[in-house]
Amino acid sequence: MKRMIAFLTISIFAAAVMVVAAGESKPPLRPSQVLMQARAAWMAAMNKNLGDTKLPEGKGQEGKGQADTKADTDKNAGAKKFEAIAKDATAMAAEAQKTGNGLANPVAKEITLSLAALARELSTAASKKDGDLIKTKLGEIKAKCSECHAKIRDKK
Ligand code: HEC
Repeated sequence: MKRMIAFLTISIFAAAVMVVAAGESKPPLRPSQVLMQARAAWMAAMNKNLGDTKLPEGKGQEGKGQADTKADTDKNAGAKKFEAIAKDATAMAAEAQKTGNGLANPVAKEITLSLAALARELSTAASKKDGDLIKTKLGEIKAKCSECHAKIRDKK
């Protein structure tokens, strides 16, 4: 009887392990990858929510007349989801602040905390519905991502 119970216990355990394993077809992501993929998703969402904007830098360039500028302006006036941008920026700021605080590598820490600061500035810009400033901040954030990827990730 004892052997029977032991056998059943092992069988049920083995079946449970197989069910769990079947659910995970891909290898699990490392925690760092989960964080990074969330950052990439926030960046994509914020860019999308800002709309397909043309920046004012095109204005006044050679070959660009009033009409082009007006078209650019109209494009810039496209649906911008400032609230959604502010929400994502706030979430990214919180994540980067928390992550940065926990980092031991001084270079990674410095970059991640400045990423957090930029994300807070981005959130403020979104609250003020300042599309141009949002675009600037998104560019500065992207530069931080690249800086760390170049200095830390790709050095390994
Ligand atoms: C402080 C350093 C640092 C910063 C800042 C940083 N990254 Fe990364 N990133 C890394 C490292 C290290 C990896 C490799 C992680 C791994 O493979 O475990 C990585 C990997 C990635 C990946 C690949 C994830 C995968 O699935 O393998 C993406 C996408 C990514 N980063 C996006 C971003 C974006 C977007 C930002 C900015 C908003 C950013 N990263 C900021 C260090 C950083």
